[in-house]
Amino acid sequence: MKKLLAIMSAAFVTASAMAQVNIIPKPASLQVGNGTFTITPSTKISLSTAGLNRQAAFFNDYLQKFYGFKLPLAQGSKAGKNSIVLGYNKLNGSKPGAYSLEVNNHGVTIGGDNAAGVFYGIQTLIQLLPAQPSKELAIQQVSIVDSPRFAYRGMMLDVGRHFFPVKDVKKFIDFLALHKINNFHWHLTEDQGWRIEIKKYPKLTQVGGCRNGTIIGHHPGTGNDDTKDCGYYTQAQVKEIVKYAADRFITVIPEIELPGHSSAAIAAYPKLSCFPDEPTEIAKGVTWAGPKTGKQVQQSWGVYSDVYCPSEYTFKFLQDVMDEVVQLFPSKYIHIGGDECPKDAWKKSEFCQKLIKDKNLKDEHGLQSYFIGRIEKYLNSKGRNIIGWDEILEGGLAPNATVMSWRGEQGGIEAARQKHKVIMTPTTYVYFDYAQKKNEDSLVIGGYLPLKTVYNYNPLPAELTPEEQQYIIGAQANVWTEYIANAGKLQYMIFPRMTALSEVLWSKQDDKNYEDFKTRLAEQFKRYDLWKVKYGQIGDE
Ligand code: ACM
Repeated sequence: MKKLLAIMSAAFVTASAMAQVNIIPKPASLQVGNGTFTITPSTKISLSTAGLNRQAAFFNDYLQKFYGFKLPLAQGSKAGKNSIVLGYNKLNGSKPGAYSLEVNNHGVTIGGDNAAGVFYGIQTLIQLLPAQPSKELAIQQVSIVDSPRFAYRGMMLDVGRHFFPVKDVKKFIDFLALHKINNFHWHLTEDQGWRIEIKKYPKLTQVGGCRNGTIIGHHPGTGNDDTKDCGYYTQAQVKEIVKYAADRFITVIPEIELPGHSSAAIAAYPKLSCFPDEPTEIAKGVTWAGPKTGKQVQQSWGVYSDVYCPSEYTFKFLQDVMDEVVQLFPSKYIHIGGDECPKDAWKKSEFCQKLIKDKNLKDEHGLQSYFIGRIEKYLNSKGRNIIGWDEILEGGLAPNATVMSWRGEQGGIEAARQKHKVIMTPTTYVYFDYAQKKNEDSLVIGGYLPLKTVYNYNPLPAELTPEEQQYIIGAQANVWTEYIANAGKLQYMIFPRMTALSEVLWSKQDDKNYEDFKTRLAEQFKRYDLWKVKYGQIGDE
């Protein structure tokens, strides 16, 4: 045994001595060997256990796309030389998603604690590949044991303000997979567009999926582009995306916003409003395209007071919508929004005031809690749990709700103390629609969120006890798309900040070091070039 240890320590030197291994997120344990192993088109992928085809397929697709070759699969065969062996490896005490990765001069062995772990081992292997296309890919000998810090590692994409076609959504999901992120929060409904086909309510997409124009510049804008902007996902496309994500060990969490941010649904079905006969509010100073009469899909950004009326008509509608949503999304969580719901309409509405009295509610915040509580109850009856933005705390939390804390961390802290699960997503650290440098050359919503701030984020607030911290299941960055209208801008806004986020979500807080991260990021920049994506620079710190 002593001899074996001596051989092992001679064969491995510490990671810091070998600059060429630059893995992000930083693995829990990494030892670097002296030699290399070379992957060539004759290297086999050997599946030591059945059911690991998705992991092998992801690696092969990546090789094909960026290096121009694929590897043959050898199912159930004994690992010979020149193989990449995929299998299971029970890693005691590790979190789900843990894996081991060994590279020696014969080949590669990846052992996942579960199927996702095998997939994460593949992502790490991808980062060992040289960033230059070649048919001979020399990778460093390493010994890695790795495990995620947080169970929930998320990214949100808003497709309401700007619609992104299926191919862009799939690319976004690929980027998540490459960063070991396991939840894609898909913000599907907004004031400016309803993006998911609901068969029972076809006008949601026929009417709600289109706006007649978009303001130019920051609200209220310097004009209107006078261009129809339409788009939605058919249910077949939704299923395709959910499967595409599942093949990458990513859960898609749909967000169906309520009671606010509902102008597009109201434009399609005016009776959802407490004031169906009143025309849509056009914000002061906004130049409008097309008709101003009746209910319209919003053309400017912001928060609007024409929200869902808590009527039986609305509840029937939302339950019908959720019936179709739960058929499409196997996710345990359904996000119901809950943020930025002005109470003006409810204050003005006789119906709402009577409802507050009849239900013995305190005020309009109580009415919002009643609204969310009913939806929660319905979704719970379908075996699902809700996530809501932190405003759902106001007026009292629904019993089983998970809180997404976005207006800072206070909502999350409060929810954790109330023993509710929390996902941290504060504007100050993880709003990727904010500027990443002080002088952006294209319009962004505002704010300033440089790479270093994202990197240094710790989602576990120090004021919580270790017991309370258990309720923080993870964190997420949000990409709101008021000023992100195409895939190139989307890439620029997420890179490299999402790469920093991946380390926030995956690596131990004590292992994080910004200077060391920047060294590793230099290699990641070469990988971005290989992927041909747009990205920001480090700068402005
Ligand atoms: C939000 O940014 N309104 C959740």
